[in-house]
Amino acid sequence: MKTYIIGNWKMNFTVGESSLYLHKLLTKLHFYRDIEVIVAPSALALQPLSLQTNRRKIKLAAQNIFYRDYGPYTGEFSVAQVRSLVDYVIVGHSERRHIFHESDKDIKLKVAAALRGGLTPILCIGETESERTFGETADVLKDQLLGGLADVSREELSKVIVAYEPVWAISGHGSSAVASPLDVADVFVLLRKTLKETYGPKLSAEIPLLFGGSVKSLNAESYLSLADCNGLLIGGASLIFSEFNDIIEITKQIKND
Ligand code: 13P
Repeated sequence: MKTYIIGNWKMNFTVGESSLYLHKLLTKLHFYRDIEVIVAPSALALQPLSLQTNRRKIKLAAQNIFYRDYGPYTGEFSVAQVRSLVDYVIVGHSERRHIFHESDKDIKLKVAAALRGGLTPILCIGETESERTFGETADVLKDQLLGGLADVSREELSKVIVAYEPVWAISGHGSSAVASPLDVADVFVLLRKTLKETYGPKLSAEIPLLFGGSVKSLNAESYLSLADCNGLLIGGASLIFSEFNDIIEITKQIKND
């Protein structure tokens, strides 16, 4: 299985800045066959960046989509509108769930819409700080995982990527907490077990599990070395070229040697 290194730029960079940064990535990063490098710029930058990128080196992801194909949905865009620009779409990011109140049902419909349109959904799941404090992590994660996949057929399952992002460990929301690799390892075991019990060992083994939440070059190795870790979803550190580059080099050392 490939290792996925995904930069989620969130609401950062103008279109011009995005283009300059992509240029730097394309010219200066080393690319490795077994590492899939993906960036998710703002929706405004997807069109120009899709023309600029070399998809063999860097693929693009949308940060969100709406699940209808077209119609009176002000401010939204559909898979049909974005599918020629990107290969991936992030679905159910905690910032969408908690700031924009996306429900489990919305997320299930978005995952299914992405697959229907030929895009790979990166389904994000993660517990909040209070859910963690009250010992609800396992239940929340199982609900979000199986809820997000509820409309996915067995044939489509291998096209889904799952990213575990504990909400309390995501930077920029007032807490500086970082998830310990041991905690993340436990969660990966839980997720793989849940997938196995639901879909069987063969299908469950085909689903990449990623980690995200305050990942930097300094701690990337500790997560990537976990047996079940198939990649990283990186926010803040992906905005800094040297950090993103170092994380890719670390990935190469750990996964490809
Ligand atoms: P940070 O790496 O900035 O904590 O963000 C993680 C994230 O939300 C990526 O989707």
